[in-house]
Amino acid sequence: MRPSEAYVRLFEPPKMAGHFTGKHVVTVEQFTREDMIEVFRTAADFRDRVRHGDRTLLNAAAGRVMATLFYEASTRTDMSFQAAMHRLGGAVVSTSGGVRFSSVYKGENLADTIRAVGCYADVVVLRHPDVGSSYEAAYYLDQLGEQLGRSPVVISGGDGVGEHPTQALLDLFTIVDCKGRADRLTITMVGDLLNGRTVHSLSKLIAQYGAQEVDFCFVSPFSLRMPSYIVDFLHERGYRVMQTGDLYEVLNRSDVIYWTRVQQERFAKPEDYEAIRDDFVMTPEVLGQAKSDAILMHPLPRKNEMGTPRDHDILDADSRAVYFKQMANGMFVRMALLAKVLGAAV
Ligand code: NCD
Repeated sequence: MRPSEAYVRLFEPPKMAGHFTGKHVVTVEQFTREDMIEVFRTAADFRDRVRHGDRTLLNAAAGRVMATLFYEASTRTDMSFQAAMHRLGGAVVSTSGGVRFSSVYKGENLADTIRAVGCYADVVVLRHPDVGSSYEAAYYLDQLGEQLGRSPVVISGGDGVGEHPTQALLDLFTIVDCKGRADRLTITMVGDLLNGRTVHSLSKLIAQYGAQEVDFCFVSPFSLRMPSYIVDFLHERGYRVMQTGDLYEVLNRSDVIYWTRVQQERFAKPEDYEAIRDDFVMTPEVLGQAKSDAILMHPLPRKNEMGTPRDHDILDADSRAVYFKQMANGMFVRMALLAKVLGAAV
Protein backbone atom coordinates (compact mmCIF):
# COMPACT_ATOMS: atom_id res chain seq x y z
CA MET A 1 0.00 0.00 0.00
CA ARG A 2 1.12 3.52 -0.58
CA PRO A 3 0.67 6.04 2.20
CA SER A 4 -3.02 6.82 2.22
CA GLU A 5 -3.98 10.20 0.86
CA ALA A 6 -4.88 11.24 4.40
CA TYR A 7 -1.28 10.95 5.55
CA VAL A 8 0.08 12.76 2.57
CA ARG A 9 -2.43 15.55 3.20
CA LEU A 10 -1.24 15.77 6.81
CA PHE A 11 2.37 16.09 5.77
CA GLU A 12 3.67 16.67 2.28
CA PRO A 13 7.34 15.71 2.31
CA PRO A 14 9.60 18.43 0.94
CA LYS A 15 12.52 17.69 -1.36
CA MET A 16 15.88 17.96 0.31
CA ALA A 17 17.28 19.85 -2.69
CA GLY A 18 20.57 20.47 -0.91
CA HIS A 19 18.98 21.73 2.33
CA PHE A 20 18.73 18.85 4.76
CA THR A 21 18.76 20.71 8.05
CA GLY A 22 15.56 20.32 10.05
CA LYS A 23 13.83 18.20 7.40
CA HIS A 24 12.01 14.96 8.16
CA VAL A 25 13.02 11.85 6.20
CA VAL A 26 9.93 9.79 5.34
CA THR A 27 10.32 8.75 1.68
CA VAL A 28 13.04 8.35 -0.92
CA GLU A 29 11.06 10.71 -3.14
CA GLN A 30 12.57 13.59 -1.13
CA PHE A 31 16.05 12.92 -2.50
CA THR A 32 17.31 14.39 -5.76
CA ARG A 33 20.29 12.89 -7.55
CA GLU A 34 22.50 15.66 -6.13
CA ASP A 35 21.21 14.97 -2.60
CA MET A 36 22.16 11.31 -2.96
CA ILE A 37 25.60 12.17 -4.28
CA GLU A 38 26.09 14.48 -1.30
CA VAL A 39 24.96 11.83 1.22
CA PHE A 40 27.19 9.20 -0.44
CA ARG A 41 30.20 11.56 -0.50
CA THR A 42 29.72 12.31 3.20
CA ALA A 43 29.21 8.63 4.08
CA ALA A 44 32.42 7.65 2.25
CA ASP A 45 34.29 10.46 4.02
CA PHE A 46 32.97 9.34 7.43
CA ARG A 47 33.89 5.73 6.66
CA ASP A 48 37.42 6.83 5.95
CA ARG A 49 37.63 8.95 9.04
CA VAL A 50 36.22 6.26 11.33
CA ARG A 51 38.72 3.77 9.91
CA HIS A 52 41.52 6.19 10.69
CA GLY A 53 40.29 6.86 14.22
CA ASP A 54 39.48 10.53 13.49
CA ARG A 55 38.07 11.86 16.77
CA THR A 56 37.03 15.25 15.42
CA LEU A 57 33.78 13.60 14.31
CA LEU A 58 32.79 13.52 17.97
CA ASN A 59 32.12 17.25 17.80
CA ALA A 60 29.57 16.90 15.02
CA ALA A 61 26.48 16.11 17.10
CA ALA A 62 27.80 16.93 20.57
CA GLY A 63 24.97 18.10 22.79
CA ARG A 64 22.29 16.69 20.47
CA VAL A 65 19.93 13.86 21.34
CA MET A 66 18.49 11.11 19.13
CA ALA A 67 15.59 8.92 20.27
CA THR A 68 14.84 5.51 18.82
CA LEU A 69 11.21 4.44 18.80
CA PHE A 70 10.82 0.96 17.34
CA TYR A 71 7.39 -0.68 17.29
CA GLU A 72 8.79 -3.52 15.17
CA ALA A 73 11.84 -5.71 15.60
CA SER A 74 15.21 -4.44 14.42
CA THR A 75 18.89 -5.18 14.85
CA ARG A 76 20.70 -3.34 12.07
CA THR A 77 18.56 -0.26 11.60
CA ASP A 78 18.21 0.44 15.32
CA MET A 79 21.80 -0.30 16.31
CA SER A 80 23.42 1.36 13.30
CA PHE A 81 21.47 4.55 13.99
CA GLN A 82 22.48 4.42 17.65
CA ALA A 83 26.11 3.74 16.80
CA ALA A 84 26.03 6.49 14.15
CA MET A 85 24.80 9.04 16.70
CA HIS A 86 27.41 7.98 19.25
CA ARG A 87 30.16 8.21 16.64
CA LEU A 88 29.08 11.78 15.91
CA GLY A 89 29.36 12.59 19.62
CA GLY A 90 25.60 12.78 20.22
CA ALA A 91 23.47 11.06 22.84
CA VAL A 92 20.83 8.36 22.37
CA VAL A 93 17.69 7.77 24.40
CA SER A 94 15.00 5.09 24.20
CA THR A 95 12.58 3.53 26.64
CA SER A 96 14.19 0.77 28.63
CA GLY A 97 13.29 -2.50 26.97
CA GLY A 98 11.84 -0.90 23.82
CA VAL A 99 8.26 0.25 23.17
CA ARG A 100 6.90 -2.83 24.95
CA PHE A 101 7.83 -1.14 28.21
CA SER A 102 6.80 2.36 27.21
CA SER A 103 3.33 3.86 27.62
CA VAL A 104 2.49 2.23 24.28
CA TYR A 105 1.95 -0.81 26.47
CA LYS A 106 -0.67 1.21 28.38
CA GLY A 107 -2.47 2.01 25.13
CA GLU A 108 -0.99 5.42 24.28
CA ASN A 109 -1.44 6.38 20.62
CA LEU A 110 1.37 7.27 18.22
CA ALA A 111 0.53 11.00 18.28
CA ASP A 112 1.00 11.32 22.03
CA THR A 113 4.05 9.08 22.16
CA ILE A 114 5.67 11.09 19.36
CA ARG A 115 4.84 14.36 21.16
CA ALA A 116 6.55 13.07 24.29
CA VAL A 117 9.64 11.89 22.45
CA GLY A 118 9.83 15.16 20.49
CA CYS A 119 10.02 17.07 23.78
CA TYR A 120 13.22 15.24 24.69
CA ALA A 121 15.04 14.60 21.43
CA ASP A 122 16.25 16.53 18.36
CA VAL A 123 15.77 13.57 16.06
CA VAL A 124 13.44 10.59 16.38
CA VAL A 125 14.07 7.38 14.44
CA LEU A 126 10.69 5.68 14.07
CA ARG A 127 9.85 2.17 12.92
CA HIS A 128 6.16 1.41 12.97
CA PRO A 129 3.89 -1.22 11.34
CA ASP A 130 1.50 1.33 9.76
CA VAL A 131 2.14 2.70 6.30
CA GLY A 132 2.35 6.49 6.55
CA SER A 133 3.19 6.48 10.29
CA SER A 134 6.31 8.55 9.69
CA TYR A 135 4.22 11.16 7.84
CA GLU A 136 1.91 11.30 10.84
CA ALA A 137 4.89 11.67 13.17
CA ALA A 138 6.26 14.51 11.01
CA TYR A 139 2.93 16.31 11.27
CA TYR A 140 2.79 16.06 15.07
CA LEU A 141 6.43 17.05 15.47
CA ASP A 142 5.88 20.15 13.34
CA GLN A 143 2.94 21.16 15.53
CA LEU A 144 4.96 20.50 18.66
CA GLY A 145 7.95 22.38 17.28
CA GLU A 146 5.96 25.60 17.21
CA GLN A 147 5.43 25.31 20.97
CA LEU A 148 8.95 24.13 21.72
CA GLY A 149 10.64 26.79 19.63
CA ARG A 150 12.82 24.17 17.95
CA SER A 151 12.11 21.57 15.26
CA PRO A 152 12.59 17.91 16.15
CA VAL A 153 12.73 15.72 13.05
CA VAL A 154 11.61 12.19 12.38
CA ILE A 155 13.60 9.75 10.27
CA SER A 156 11.66 6.72 9.10
CA GLY A 157 13.24 3.40 10.01
CA GLY A 158 10.52 1.61 8.02
CA ASP A 159 6.76 2.12 7.94
CA GLY A 160 5.11 -1.28 7.62
CA VAL A 161 4.98 -2.47 4.02
CA GLY A 162 5.52 1.09 2.80
CA GLU A 163 9.07 2.38 2.64
CA HIS A 164 12.48 2.08 4.24
CA PRO A 165 14.26 5.15 2.89
CA THR A 166 17.54 4.92 4.82
CA GLN A 167 17.96 1.28 3.80
CA ALA A 168 17.55 2.30 0.15
CA LEU A 169 20.22 4.98 0.54
CA LEU A 170 22.68 2.48 2.00
CA ASP A 171 21.75 -0.04 -0.70
CA LEU A 172 22.38 2.37 -3.57
CA PHE A 173 25.56 3.58 -1.87
CA THR A 174 26.70 -0.05 -1.79
CA ILE A 175 25.81 -0.61 -5.46
CA VAL A 176 27.80 2.45 -6.55
CA ASP A 177 30.61 1.49 -4.17
CA CYS A 178 30.88 -2.09 -5.48
CA LYS A 179 30.02 -1.65 -9.17
CA GLY A 180 31.51 1.82 -9.58
CA ARG A 181 28.29 3.06 -11.18
CA ALA A 182 24.51 3.01 -11.05
CA ASP A 183 24.15 3.08 -14.85
CA ARG A 184 24.05 0.21 -17.37
CA LEU A 185 22.94 -2.40 -14.86
CA THR A 186 20.41 -5.18 -14.81
CA ILE A 187 19.02 -5.06 -11.29
CA THR A 188 17.13 -8.15 -10.17
CA MET A 189 15.07 -8.15 -7.00
CA VAL A 190 13.87 -11.51 -5.71
CA GLY A 191 11.44 -12.72 -3.06
CA ASP A 192 8.63 -10.98 -1.23
CA LEU A 193 8.34 -7.89 -3.41
CA LEU A 194 4.80 -7.19 -2.22
CA ASN A 195 5.55 -6.78 1.48
CA GLY A 196 9.25 -5.91 1.34
CA ARG A 197 9.61 -2.20 2.01
CA THR A 198 13.32 -2.27 1.14
CA VAL A 199 12.67 -3.16 -2.50
CA HIS A 200 9.92 -0.53 -2.77
CA SER A 201 12.26 2.21 -1.61
CA LEU A 202 15.29 0.98 -3.53
CA SER A 203 13.45 0.78 -6.87
CA LYS A 204 12.13 4.31 -6.47
CA LEU A 205 15.48 5.65 -5.27
CA ILE A 206 17.32 4.29 -8.31
CA ALA A 207 14.75 5.97 -10.53
CA GLN A 208 15.05 9.23 -8.57
CA TYR A 209 18.82 8.99 -9.09
CA GLY A 210 18.14 8.94 -12.79
CA ALA A 211 20.30 5.89 -13.43
CA GLN A 212 20.73 5.40 -17.19
CA GLU A 213 20.13 2.12 -19.04
CA VAL A 214 18.95 0.24 -15.99
CA ASP A 215 16.66 -2.75 -16.43
CA PHE A 216 14.60 -3.82 -13.45
CA CYS A 217 13.75 -7.52 -13.12
CA PHE A 218 11.29 -8.42 -10.41
CA VAL A 219 11.21 -12.11 -9.55
CA SER A 220 8.61 -13.37 -7.09
CA PRO A 221 5.78 -15.79 -6.53
CA PHE A 222 2.71 -14.45 -8.33
CA SER A 223 0.99 -13.57 -5.03
CA LEU A 224 3.97 -11.49 -3.88
CA ARG A 225 4.52 -9.36 -6.99
CA MET A 226 5.86 -5.81 -6.76
CA PRO A 227 2.95 -3.42 -6.09
CA SER A 228 1.70 -1.82 -9.29
CA TYR A 229 2.28 1.72 -7.99
CA ILE A 230 6.02 0.99 -7.83
CA VAL A 231 6.02 -0.49 -11.34
CA ASP A 232 4.06 2.56 -12.56
CA PHE A 233 6.57 4.89 -10.86
CA LEU A 234 9.38 3.22 -12.85
CA HIS A 235 7.46 3.15 -16.14
CA GLU A 236 6.60 6.83 -15.82
CA ARG A 237 10.32 7.56 -15.59
CA GLY A 238 11.11 5.51 -18.67
CA TYR A 239 12.48 2.33 -17.10
CA ARG A 240 12.00 -1.16 -18.49
CA VAL A 241 10.50 -3.52 -15.94
CA MET A 242 10.30 -7.27 -16.31
CA GLN A 243 8.19 -9.28 -13.90
CA THR A 244 8.56 -13.03 -13.77
CA GLY A 245 8.24 -16.10 -11.57
CA ASP A 246 11.25 -17.71 -13.24
CA LEU A 247 14.59 -16.64 -11.81
CA TYR A 248 16.52 -18.40 -14.57
CA GLU A 249 15.03 -16.07 -17.18
CA VAL A 250 17.16 -13.27 -15.75
CA LEU A 251 19.79 -14.66 -13.38
CA ASN A 252 22.69 -15.00 -15.83
CA ARG A 253 22.38 -11.43 -17.05
CA SER A 254 21.87 -9.75 -13.66
CA ASP A 255 24.52 -7.36 -12.39
CA VAL A 256 22.86 -6.76 -9.04
CA ILE A 257 20.94 -9.58 -7.36
CA TYR A 258 18.95 -8.27 -4.41
CA TRP A 259 17.58 -11.19 -2.41
CA THR A 260 14.87 -10.72 0.21
CA ARG A 261 13.21 -12.54 3.07
CA VAL A 262 9.56 -13.55 2.82
CA GLN A 263 7.98 -11.19 5.35
CA GLN A 264 6.33 -13.85 7.50
CA GLU A 265 5.01 -11.29 9.99
CA ARG A 266 2.84 -9.69 7.27
CA PHE A 267 0.90 -12.88 6.50
CA ALA A 268 -2.58 -13.24 7.98
CA LYS A 269 -2.64 -17.02 7.45
CA PRO A 270 0.39 -19.18 8.34
CA GLU A 271 -0.48 -21.63 5.54
CA ASP A 272 -0.12 -18.87 2.93
CA TYR A 273 3.39 -18.22 4.19
CA GLU A 274 4.27 -21.93 4.29
CA ALA A 275 3.03 -22.36 0.71
CA ILE A 276 5.59 -19.97 -0.79
CA ARG A 277 8.41 -19.67 1.77
CA ASP A 278 10.72 -21.94 -0.20
CA ASP A 279 9.90 -20.71 -3.70
CA PHE A 280 13.13 -18.76 -4.04
CA VAL A 281 16.13 -20.04 -2.14
CA MET A 282 19.62 -18.70 -2.83
CA THR A 283 22.24 -21.43 -2.58
CA PRO A 284 25.82 -21.74 -3.83
CA GLU A 285 24.44 -23.69 -6.83
CA VAL A 286 22.10 -20.83 -7.72
CA LEU A 287 24.82 -18.22 -7.33
CA GLY A 288 27.00 -20.44 -9.50
CA GLN A 289 24.79 -19.52 -12.45
CA ALA A 290 25.19 -15.77 -11.95
CA LYS A 291 27.72 -13.54 -13.71
CA SER A 292 31.21 -13.66 -12.26
CA ASP A 293 31.08 -9.92 -11.52
CA ALA A 294 27.52 -9.79 -10.22
CA ILE A 295 26.89 -8.65 -6.67
CA LEU A 296 24.57 -10.46 -4.26
CA MET A 297 22.80 -8.15 -1.82
CA HIS A 298 20.37 -8.80 1.04
CA PRO A 299 19.03 -6.30 3.58
CA LEU A 300 19.16 -9.04 6.25
CA PRO A 301 18.08 -10.75 8.45
CA ARG A 302 18.19 -13.94 6.35
CA LYS A 303 16.31 -17.13 6.95
CA ASN A 304 15.57 -20.17 4.79
CA GLU A 305 15.60 -18.02 1.61
CA MET A 306 19.40 -18.14 1.82
CA GLY A 307 19.57 -21.90 2.29
CA THR A 308 21.09 -23.78 5.19
CA PRO A 309 23.78 -22.54 7.59
CA ARG A 310 26.23 -24.55 5.45
CA ASP A 311 25.01 -22.65 2.36
CA HIS A 312 25.50 -19.40 4.29
CA ASP A 313 29.14 -20.25 4.90
CA ILE A 314 29.80 -20.93 1.22
CA LEU A 315 27.86 -17.90 0.03
CA ASP A 316 29.58 -15.63 2.55
CA ALA A 317 32.97 -16.67 1.23
CA ASP A 318 31.99 -15.80 -2.36
CA SER A 319 33.40 -12.43 -3.38
CA ARG A 320 30.08 -11.59 -5.03
CA ALA A 321 28.28 -11.59 -1.67
CA VAL A 322 28.30 -7.99 -0.46
CA TYR A 323 25.57 -8.09 2.19
CA PHE A 324 27.97 -7.68 5.09
CA LYS A 325 29.52 -4.64 3.37
CA GLN A 326 26.00 -3.37 2.86
CA MET A 327 25.31 -3.84 6.57
CA ALA A 328 28.51 -2.01 7.52
CA ASN A 329 27.75 0.84 5.12
CA GLY A 330 24.44 1.35 6.93
CA MET A 331 26.12 3.06 9.83
CA PHE A 332 28.09 5.46 7.64
CA VAL A 333 25.10 6.43 5.52
CA ARG A 334 23.08 7.02 8.71
CA MET A 335 25.93 9.09 10.17
CA ALA A 336 25.81 11.21 7.02
CA LEU A 337 22.05 11.64 7.22
CA LEU A 338 22.08 12.49 10.92
CA ALA A 339 24.84 15.05 10.44
CA LYS A 340 22.89 16.62 7.58
CA VAL A 341 19.45 16.83 9.22
CA LEU A 342 21.04 18.15 12.43
CA GLY A 343 22.94 20.76 10.41
CA ALA A 344 26.22 19.62 11.95
CA ALA A 345 29.44 21.19 10.74
CA VAL A 346 31.60 18.31 9.53
C1 NCD B 1 14.56 -5.10 6.53
C2 NCD B 1 13.31 -4.44 7.08
O1 NCD B 1 13.16 -4.29 8.30
O2 NCD B 1 12.52 -4.03 6.25
N1 NCD B 1 15.58 -5.20 7.49
C3 NCD B 1 16.45 -4.15 7.66
O3 NCD B 1 16.08 -3.06 8.03
N2 NCD B 1 17.74 -4.38 7.36
C4 NCD B 1 14.32 -6.34 5.79
C5 NCD B 1 13.62 -7.48 6.46
O4 NCD B 1 13.24 -7.42 7.65
O5 NCD B 1 13.44 -8.50 5.79
